[in-house]
Amino acid sequence: MFEGLKALPQDPILGLMMKFREDTNPDKLDLGVGVYKDEQGNTPIMESVHLAEQQLLITESTKSYIAPAGTILYNQRMRELVFGADHVVLKEGRIASAQTPGGCGALRMAAEFIQGCNADSAVWVSTPTWANHIPLLGGAGVTIKEYPYYDYEQNNVQFDAMLASLEAASAGDFLLLHGCCHNPSGADLNQEQWQAVTELCARKGLIPFIDMAYQGLGSGLDEDAYGVRLMADTLPEMLVATSCSKNFGLYRERTGTLFIVAGNAEQAANAGSQLFNKIRSHYSMPPSHGAAIVETILSDTGMNQQWQEELQAMRQRIQSLRKMLVQKITATGIDRDFSFIEQQFGMFSFLGITPQQVAQLQRDYGIYIVDSSRVNVAGLNDDRMDYFVNALVEVLRR
Ligand code: LMR
Repeated sequence: MFEGLKALPQDPILGLMMKFREDTNPDKLDLGVGVYKDEQGNTPIMESVHLAEQQLLITESTKSYIAPAGTILYNQRMRELVFGADHVVLKEGRIASAQTPGGCGALRMAAEFIQGCNADSAVWVSTPTWANHIPLLGGAGVTIKEYPYYDYEQNNVQFDAMLASLEAASAGDFLLLHGCCHNPSGADLNQEQWQAVTELCARKGLIPFIDMAYQGLGSGLDEDAYGVRLMADTLPEMLVATSCSKNFGLYRERTGTLFIVAGNAEQAANAGSQLFNKIRSHYSMPPSHGAAIVETILSDTGMNQQWQEELQAMRQRIQSLRKMLVQKITATGIDRDFSFIEQQFGMFSFLGITPQQVAQLQRDYGIYIVDSSRVNVAGLNDDRMDYFVNALVEVLRR
């Protein structure tokens, strides 16, 4: 039966990561997969995470099953982190939540939940969006529609085109938005734009579905949650998928959360029961360790403080790398404006170079970026900056 199977193409991001690992070029530089790296080029375990793990080693008393929803305390702490402890939807008990295997688990379970609610609802995704959004959501059978988002000429959000296109959405459709640090473009909605999209959702009966994979890596923990909190203030229903991969550096521990905000507490409980049923039939329940770390950190004042400081240091370092990158490119005298990189948020920006130029960077310099020209700025450091800038400018001048 298996002899007729054909090999599938590799994932555009994970395939690149594997190729990089196999490359023997001593100068190679991985700016592909979205992983934060420090000045030495390592992806360290955060000190607060180390402390929580040490504590867990002593206090964890069982490896018995948790539950499809995960632990009560993890879900509570994540609700407080994402919505703010005083948010009205928390006070009114209008949220169902589940600890999930990473942000991917949250997104896929959201799609399964949407299919169970109404198989005719479409999910509208930005063009472009994270390469795995479409397989993750489409794999559950949901209809995907696209709205224009990034203007490659202006290097910014093409907001008017986005709004105009969403006029074609139907009541009950879901609108996938990136909570902050848009992946792959780094171009975020500003506060006025969030307000306008919220009004659009209210007017047309669209349900926001926010992917928040980078809270704290854009402008700050609360600042990055502006859109989520505004929409939860205003609209009766929404979905929010979060990830602790980046802001806690827990990539391989697969730690995320899915929130369903509903019109009242009873509806939230009913929606939760549908979600937990889906989870049970997919993976039964989520892994524990990463979420136990997050729960420990967020429940302890000292560790929480330390984590926030570490997160702030990562955020500020990414911002300064963005600045340095623009300065160094400008200093080469190349006749091309890259200043938009400094205005964007999070790990990624598009360089705006061709796939051929991306391939040349890889072939001639061992520099790995995604074919779309998405670069992970957080993979740079002081030592490698000149190497990267010289290679980029060299390729642009050919
Ligand atoms: C990325 O966009 O590079 C990360 O979110 C990692 C992944 O799984 O694609």
